[in-house]
Amino acid sequence: MISKDFGIQLFILIMGMTFSDSFILECPPVKEGAVVKVKAYFPGNHSLFKNGESALFFYRNKRQIGNCELNSRNICQNEYNNPNIKLTQIYTAGQYIFTLTSSSNTSWRNTSTSTLSGETWRVRLGKTEINKTCDIQVYAIFDKPECFPHISMEHFILTCFLRKVFPKALCVFHITLNNTHILKGSVSYNHEEIDGGGYYTTSCTFQASTSIENETYQISVTMYPNITGTVSDRKYGQSFTFFFPGNF
Ligand SMILES: *[C@@H]1O[C@H](CO)[C@@H](O)[C@H](O)[C@H]1NC(C)=O
Ligand SMILES: *[C@@H]1O[C@H](CO)[C@@H](O)[C@H](O)[C@H]1NC(C)=O
Ligand SMILES: *[C@@H]1O[C@H](CO)[C@@H](O)[C@H](O)[C@H]1NC(C)=O
Ligand SMILES: *[C@@H]1O[C@H](CO)[C@@H](O)[C@H](O)[C@H]1NC(C)=O
Ligand SMILES: *[C@@H]1O[C@H](CO)[C@@H](O)[C@H](O)[C@H]1NC(C)=O
Ligand SMILES: *[C@@H]1O[C@H](CO)[C@@H](O)[C@H](O)[C@H]1NC(C)=O
Ligand SMILES: *[C@@H]1O[C@H](CO)[C@@H](O)[C@H](O)[C@H]1NC(C)=O
Repeated sequence: MISKDFGIQLFILIMGMTFSDSFILECPPVKEGAVVKVKAYFPGNHSLFKNGESALFFYRNKRQIGNCELNSRNICQNEYNNPNIKLTQIYTAGQYIFTLTSSSNTSWRNTSTSTLSGETWRVRLGKTEINKTCDIQVYAIFDKPECFPHISMEHFILTCFLRKVFPKALCVFHITLNNTHILKGSVSYNHEEIDGGGYYTTSCTFQASTSIENETYQISVTMYPNITGTVSDRKYGQSFTFFFPGNF
């Protein structure tokens, strides 16, 4: 026989677990020197709110920096009236969306982990243990890739560089012949530490054998910092497209 108290605790535990799954904390990578932006999404109709959990608390490292009421008043408070921190909330399509921006010093990063040194963000629901944390990852990218083709009757060799990037960059090539054929080849990398390991110079070389003369290649390369190890990092990259021979 399950006691009433245990039943209630179990109920809260299960509600907490499902809540935790449906509550999202988003900490996208931030470009060095840019403003940190953290977003939290909460289902608006969750029964935990009806049990009196009516506020969200935001922490940067161990320190509470602000809180928001989970009701129609849309009130958020900045704990220390810190002008570098802004906290807002909206309620839309059945969910609360909280946005926190902080103009902290994003050049201060840990080069071994690519995270912003000492920047762990946490959001916690009311008095419960339900919370999520994330580290802010920092990247740096400065210019577009520069490319040097060495194309002969037998070989297609193209080397592209990023002179300054963090972390090490990856390359995506898209090369078509006469606007139809996709050229397939292999890619090799070279990464060189610069500025005492703070940044890299990445070069990648695309190599293919080709036997056809007098073609026009449309060459498109995207170089992007390998921040999270997923293809979504491509959106932080820089692209360069040119024709060879042509307007290069
Ligand atoms: C809460 O809202 C979502 C979508 O707005 C809906 O799918 C879900 O069934 C609702 N849950 C409750 C407990 O009302
Ligand atoms: C940010 O960090 C860099 C590198 O550590 C430092 O040179 C700069 O003065 C810092 N800026 C602020 C506003 O703290
Ligand atoms: C950088 O991260 C590494 C690995 O987590 C850690 O050992 C080191 O103390 C960190 N350095 C700084 C300056 O935070
Ligand atoms: C955050 O949640 C974890 C479990 O996910 C828990 O162990 C921890 O105590 C919680 N921290 C706070 C400050 O509530
Ligand atoms: C390629 O171009 C050169 C010079 O324009 C020409 O002499 C040669 O015949 C062309 N080759 C083919 C296969 O079209
Ligand atoms: C591309 O066009 C050139 C000149 O028109 C032709 O010689 C060559 O065979 C074409 N290559 C491909 C892969 O279609
Ligand atoms: C990209 O980054 C991920 C995560 O840091 C790492 O596991 C992976 O080996 C990297 N990929 C390449 C090709 O360097």
